[in-house]
Amino acid sequence: MKLTVFGVGYVGLVQGAVLADAGHDVLCVDIDQKIIDDLKNGVVPIYEPGLTTLVETNYKEGRLSFTTDSIEGVNHGELQFIAVGTPADEDGSADLKYVLKVAETIGTHMMAPKIIVNKSTVPVGTADKVKERIAEVLAERCEKFKFDVASNPEFLKEGSAIADCTKPDRIIVGTDSDFVEEIMRELYAPFNRNNDRMIFMDVRSAEMTKYAANCMLATKISFMNEMSNITEYLGADIEAVRHGIGSDSRIGYSFIYPGCGYGGSCFPKDVQALIKTADDSGYDARILKSVELVNYAQKEKLFDKIYPHFDGNLKGKTITLWGLSFKPGTDDMREAPSRVLMEALWEAGATIQAYDPEAMNECQRIYGQRDDLTLMGTAEAALKNSDALVTITEWQKFRAPDFDFIKQSLSDPVIFDGRNMYDPKRLAARGIKYYSMGR
Ligand SMILES: NC(=O)c1ccc[n+]([C@@H]2O[C@H](COP(=O)([O-])OP(=O)(O)OC[C@H]3O[C@@H](n4cnc5c(N)ncnc54)[C@H](O)[C@@H]3O)[C@@H](O)[C@H]2O)c1
Repeated sequence: MKLTVFGVGYVGLVQGAVLADAGHDVLCVDIDQKIIDDLKNGVVPIYEPGLTTLVETNYKEGRLSFTTDSIEGVNHGELQFIAVGTPADEDGSADLKYVLKVAETIGTHMMAPKIIVNKSTVPVGTADKVKERIAEVLAERCEKFKFDVASNPEFLKEGSAIADCTKPDRIIVGTDSDFVEEIMRELYAPFNRNNDRMIFMDVRSAEMTKYAANCMLATKISFMNEMSNITEYLGADIEAVRHGIGSDSRIGYSFIYPGCGYGGSCFPKDVQALIKTADDSGYDARILKSVELVNYAQKEKLFDKIYPHFDGNLKGKTITLWGLSFKPGTDDMREAPSRVLMEALWEAGATIQAYDPEAMNECQRIYGQRDDLTLMGTAEAALKNSDALVTITEWQKFRAPDFDFIKQSLSDPVIFDGRNMYDPKRLAARGIKYYSMGR
């Protein structure tokens, strides 16, 4: 099938490459000239395991191409995917300007019937807005091409995005058209062989499903962080509690890790957006508001432990940060807890030496050159002449470090562990002061 994907970010590029790899003819369109030039030169602008090879192979074999030419894009695909960003607006609502711009572009240039498939995370009712926008533009052109707008929210996770697309838990499609259902079945057939993972529903329910899923996951995280905070007052161990409750099949082990808060480009903005949608509809989303408040405070937790440890005097201290991305397996630092901590440490006069396996370029892009930030080439180098180690992202390579080396490197050995990666007893035995979450 001929497909066009608008937006070559984490979602558009991965889905575009995966669909091309299955044999579809995919044209990816972005307004960012540099991203498109880089891709044509074999440079993949984001880090996602396995993505560079997948893009390279399919580009070379002619199933995947890139352009900034939206006319070419609209003409190419019978299916037009919208995978552009929907960032939070100032009031927390999802900003739909990029989505509606693509709708306008499609309406302006379409010369044949099209199926528009929205993959961006958008509030309930957005498909109607996309439909209206396209119809308006077609009316201005005095054209009457048939078109459908379906919702196909994306559930990939950064860090395992390719596997999530090739072996999805489910593929949600919102449409009221049998014709669109048949086309979507054909499109996703290569990923739907083992068992039927496709779930069809009305468009509004599909749009809501995405928010409900992300809000549920964010709620689990904030709930567990709240348990962790209560546990700290009571002298219990949240890791024991986690095992205890995870063994209950109704609860399960996933997404109940205590930590220093959730970040990324999805949970924070999606929780905010659903709160706003609910507010606008006259419903006060009290659980979601609490989820957000707990998370906001949780991102400050590490600083709340570091500050008193140094008796409120961080001026002139050097703090080592291991991990900058909002989670392992990605270079994405949007809403990352590391940013909240770094900004608080700088405010208090500390200097930071940081290492992340993938997010150093992104960190440089966000913060530029600063005297109080040095990005180091290895985790070990980041410990040099430092006063404390803080672990923020649970990359695999931070899980079993050389504690003797850490002890020798730090002036007065102390670790603040935002992800409970280490065993308090083992660190105590080695003479390293250790702070973690909920223990
Ligand atoms: N990142 C994730 O893990 C993830 C997972 C599931 C769903 N989503 C949702 O998918 C959507 C996209 O997320 P992302 O992380 O891929 O975004 P992103 O910011 O990485 O990429 C968006 C891209 O769209 C491009 N763009 C903007 N306007 C355009 C236009 N008019 N035409 C063509 N391209 C245009 C931008 O230049 C950018 O490259 C969002 O709604 C997000 O909530 C993201």
